[in-house]
Amino acid sequence: MPDRVLITGAAGFGGSNLVQALLDRGYRITALDVSPPSHAVLLQPVLDHPELTYLWKSVQDIQPTDVSGHQIVIHLAAQPDTPFAFESPRYTVMQNIGGTVELLEAVRRAGGVSKVLFAASGNEVGRALYLPMDEDHPLTPHNPYGFSKAAAELAMWTWYRAYNVPSVVLSTGVVIGPNMRREVFIFKWLWDALHGRPIVVEGGQQTRDVTFIGDMVEAWMSAIEAPTDAVVGQKFYVGYGQEITVEHLARMCRAAAGAEVSIEYVGYRPGEQGQREAFSTEKARRVLAYVPRTPPAEAISLTAGWVRGLLDASPGKA
Ligand SMILES: NC(=O)c1ccc[n+]([C@@H]2O[C@H](COP(=O)([O-])OP(=O)(O)OC[C@H]3O[C@@H](n4cnc5c(N)ncnc54)[C@H](O)[C@@H]3O)[C@@H](O)[C@H]2O)c1
Repeated sequence: MPDRVLITGAAGFGGSNLVQALLDRGYRITALDVSPPSHAVLLQPVLDHPELTYLWKSVQDIQPTDVSGHQIVIHLAAQPDTPFAFESPRYTVMQNIGGTVELLEAVRRAGGVSKVLFAASGNEVGRALYLPMDEDHPLTPHNPYGFSKAAAELAMWTWYRAYNVPSVVLSTGVVIGPNMRREVFIFKWLWDALHGRPIVVEGGQQTRDVTFIGDMVEAWMSAIEAPTDAVVGQKFYVGYGQEITVEHLARMCRAAAGAEVSIEYVGYRPGEQGQREAFSTEKARRVLAYVPRTPPAEAISLTAGWVRGLLDASPGKA
């Protein structure tokens, strides 16, 4: 029998892509999400799949009985938005730390799980002490979202050390592609440019390492299918491995949109001035055979194609 997989946050951008990849490979899935099934639009194509069970529930209420019978647990449920976390830091902390601890407790009590994979964020490191960042870089968050993810990652390692919960951490910077979250700056820039509006950049000289969703899914599938000994207790950075200024990304978005719009600069978000991000992919390449295939320009162009399609489908919406 193929492994049974429990995915929290399954209805989101990353979750829906992983669900599809897992179904394609014959896994049986429990897709847990706080979104009601009727709102889980990204999962609509597979909601009736015989190997998928949708569990409408918050990870904060997860019980050992929800976990029992699953060999793999993938933990994506989170409040994932950095700007929103400035407005709602308490909620973000409650969701991201509390939800992770509830899940770890349920996994510990259920037993029988061979891997728990957690989606960490490059935001857990604000201003990198050295580049490219590798898995030994300390967690030094500079904003409430980064703090919540760093604390959740520490919970993963604490439950691993204390209770042998088989933790695996995969960390990415900004992940883009069709169906990405519409609150993320790259989506907003493409959307605005395609509407003929200026691109508004907060700051400009901070840097990002952009990952295409297809590359992220390949790395995750590799970690899911790797021998347990190779990945349990290990962290992996999954990026493209290229440092790009946000200012340059804005110009790439404008080019991909094919729009002659201006780029306007406003102040940095708190904590973001001086932020730099580039990941070493050496460990992921060595252990997961991860090869990032989609350069940032291509990732942006593929994303722009999807955004253009949204616009064509609803031309009145801006
Ligand atoms: N997208 C990125 O650029 C990126 C980068 C690094 C890390 N991550 C992490 O990857 C994960 C997935 O991100 P995403 O971009 O797919 O976000 P997303 O918002 O598209 O998906 C998150 C899903 O979690 C669900 N959710 C939220 N709170 C929940 C709860 N309490 N119980 C159950 N479900 C809950 C939401 O309904 C949503 O469907 C997050 O943990 C995020 O922090 C994302």
